[in-house]
Amino acid sequence: MPVLNWIAKDKVINHDKDLPFRVLKPNKKLSIGNNDGNLIIQGDNLEALKSLMPFYYNKVKCIYIDPPYNTGNDKWIYSDRVNAPQIKSWLNKVVGAEGEDLCRHDKWLCMMYPRLKLLRDLLKQDGAIFVSIDDNEQHNLRMVMDELFGEKNFVSNIIWQKKYTQSNDAKHFSNTHDFVVVYAKNKDLFKLNLLNRTGAQNARYLNPDNDPRGVWMTQPLHAKSGNSKSFEYTFRNGRKWVPPNGTFPRFSIESLKKAEEENRIWFGAAGTAVPRLKKYLSDMKEGVISKTIWLYDEVGSNDDARRQLKAIFPENPFDTPKPVGLIKRIVEIASGEDDIVLDSFAGSGTTGQAVLELNKVSGNRKFVLVELEKNIAEDITSERLRRVISGYKGSEFDTGTGGSFEYLDLNGELFDSNGFINPKAEYEDLASYIFYTETNSYVDLKGIRNPFIGSVKDINYYLIFNDQDKNILDEKVAKSLASDEQSIIYADKCLVDDEQLGELNIIFKQIPYELKKY
Ligand SMILES: C[S@@+](CC[C@H](N)C(=O)[O-])C[C@H]1O[C@@H](n2cnc3c(N)ncnc32)[C@H](O)[C@@H]1O
Repeated sequence: MPVLNWIAKDKVINHDKDLPFRVLKPNKKLSIGNNDGNLIIQGDNLEALKSLMPFYYNKVKCIYIDPPYNTGNDKWIYSDRVNAPQIKSWLNKVVGAEGEDLCRHDKWLCMMYPRLKLLRDLLKQDGAIFVSIDDNEQHNLRMVMDELFGEKNFVSNIIWQKKYTQSNDAKHFSNTHDFVVVYAKNKDLFKLNLLNRTGAQNARYLNPDNDPRGVWMTQPLHAKSGNSKSFEYTFRNGRKWVPPNGTFPRFSIESLKKAEEENRIWFGAAGTAVPRLKKYLSDMKEGVISKTIWLYDEVGSNDDARRQLKAIFPENPFDTPKPVGLIKRIVEIASGEDDIVLDSFAGSGTTGQAVLELNKVSGNRKFVLVELEKNIAEDITSERLRRVISGYKGSEFDTGTGGSFEYLDLNGELFDSNGFINPKAEYEDLASYIFYTETNSYVDLKGIRNPFIGSVKDINYYLIFNDQDKNILDEKVAKSLASDEQSIIYADKCLVDDEQLGELNIIFKQIPYELKKY
């Protein structure tokens, strides 16, 4: 398989492994409702995705991302090339002085590669990733995704009609579409849901002969390909049928006989038309398979997206939102009602709105959004979802979709480059990390009673982590923490022998060596 190379690729290929693990800190002021799994994280998605790894590895069913297209436009509220100050300084750190000389495509690829790698690891085995992109980087993206996801897991390159007006001032073509590139984690396991049949599709089914079996439409008896050379069928009314020149019979003699017996052959209202087979709506699948071209009147256009955002923020604070319908379509076909949907280039938060609106009708999906820019995350992404949850004038759900989200900031690094715990790490940081890695669930920070972290399924978790050299599990502490239930106690040192620990129902784990690392 051909593999794409670019300047400084070698510097980013394994960068995800070297990244420090940073702690996610809930920001109560910006959160809304109880934390029931919806998250908005402010920070660079590289660090945010790494921090999610212990909890979401292999768990996300559907990823939608809309990364900067690298058009070279710096005038939007975010930089559409790899020029945001945080990303520039990240590039300088990872790539070094060479970073200054990279062309815009090298930079974009350096930025995307480690992020796509982490996204791949977060996906469930039967999950898929959908990436919005245009001609600036579509070809590079495909090459990198072939490399990271495997060529065989490429699913489709969907064309989305983003615009319906004609730009007669365009130099060459009037560009009216973007792409949505789709890769599965494992294409053999990934299944797309059917789309609901639309009113227009159902309206094609009629019942001109008052058939008690319900509405129907017809299909021809011939097909464009086949393998029968000479074919003729005589119906009970004496009409002979042969496939038109260059076509083939779609059905065998036996099938046609059966269809006739079931009164499923239609000769037109006057009984003189070319015979066709009746297909009943009731026999059709529940829905329809999604096509690879998505038109603006099905999923919305860029203008629709701006109108949708303007209905929430009259001052229209974000230039490039995607339409809610586009992301709803992705979530509907690529996830189930209890799945996790992740968008690590969240922008104005359209993915969150799509999930909340779908859940309002049915389901309990969760969204995880990441946005780099603090002003966008605070004033637009989270504010938009706050308004969607509580309702805004003119909304389809004007009393609000309901729901909640937790807003998280990226806090300090938990481990240093040697794997030791950062001396600045706080008790709660390490305690919540341990709880996550042990139980795969979030700890309620309010429930932490140092040294008690929390308990799950009759197992109590403790962390002794106060002062250097004093984090010791001795006999007195062990006896004070012991109960009939199993206790798992993390500390620097243990002065109790294994036999006594067994009698007290205690498992000792030494920090930092027995901490699970990501
Ligand atoms: C094209 S916009 C996404 C628009 C979004 N789909 C919507 O409907 O509003 C890309 C967003 O990704 C953010 N972004 C860029 N680099 C990022 C990074 N490294 N981590 C997180 N967000 C990033 C930008 O600030 C911008 O808001």
